[in-house]
Amino acid sequence: MKAVITGGAGFIGSALGRHLLAQGVDSVQAFDNLNSGHAANLEGTAIGLITGDIRDYEALLAAFADADYVIHLAAIPSVPRSIKEPIPSHDVNINGSFNVFRAAQAQGVKRVVYAASSSAYGDTEILPKVESMQTNPKSPYAAQKLMGEYYASVFSSCFGLQTVSLRFFNVFGPRQDPGSAYSGVLSLFMKALIEGKSPTIFGDGEQSRDFTYVEDVAALVWKAALATGVSGRVFNAGNGNRYTLNQTWEMLQEISGVTLAANYGSPREGDVKHSQADTTLARQALGHDPKFTFQEGLRQTFQWYRASLV
Ligand code: UD1
Repeated sequence: MKAVITGGAGFIGSALGRHLLAQGVDSVQAFDNLNSGHAANLEGTAIGLITGDIRDYEALLAAFADADYVIHLAAIPSVPRSIKEPIPSHDVNINGSFNVFRAAQAQGVKRVVYAASSSAYGDTEILPKVESMQTNPKSPYAAQKLMGEYYASVFSSCFGLQTVSLRFFNVFGPRQDPGSAYSGVLSLFMKALIEGKSPTIFGDGEQSRDFTYVEDVAALVWKAALATGVSGRVFNAGNGNRYTLNQTWEMLQEISGVTLAANYGSPREGDVKHSQADTTLARQALGHDPKFTFQEGLRQTFQWYRASLV
């Protein structure tokens, strides 16, 4: 059995690749342009690396030959970056995703699991956010990720390609790259702790997120690849809880034993205020069963950064 992970050298992709190998998948290939992914994330594993870009249809066709499953994670994954640089973001996240579905269909892939985003919900009055709610994207990134869902569904209904979309909720864990201003907030918090420098919290820090540990997401992705009767559908991939940034920074200080006051800046454009997944549908239809509490995920992640960041 062969699986190809677009964006497979990123922190989610490399955790997923390890999970698939552990589940007995014979061949796992990471297709990655190494823009935000790193070959080093695959070191010590049997995951193969195909250096390529999802904007290149021919490269995808070649990569997907003989593939049973494609997990499509590749993206320019940032809300603020999509506002600052909407053109590359559109090109990769929409046109690139279209290429992935098209190439998977052409190669007779059994199923594509697509990494959609919780950002599709925007701000809703009601929490947690349920798949049946009206979507309301607040940023180009959110709109692009939602378009990918629509394409996933249409490839299922019009072209006979099996697809499942998972709306990822703020995934975090080891190997998340803190190297850019656009990096995920928890990777930036980890770096700040290790360097002993105050992080910046945008706004009052009372915004909340359903931070989801990468191992739980990897397990769910594989369940979504194998589940029956779910093609064309969309599921939340979250933990089901939410924590404010202020609470999170407090918890991290406790875990690390470092006491450090955060700086506060202006709220970020396009930011959603609160995010929390209703996990009922994913539990029922896919067998979603998150194992990591937020505290446990933070502990594991902090240990990794402490051992890896110098
Ligand atoms: C959003 C999506 C998420 C998607 C991700 C891709 C929502 C609810 N979530 O995450 O599904 O996978 O984009 O990047 O839309 N922040 C700080 N200081 C920092 C950096 C960030 O305070 O240095 C704040 C942000 O303003 C935000 C929160 O931390 O309120 C989380 O930000 P970030 O980690 O960038 O992810 P989202 O934009 O929530």
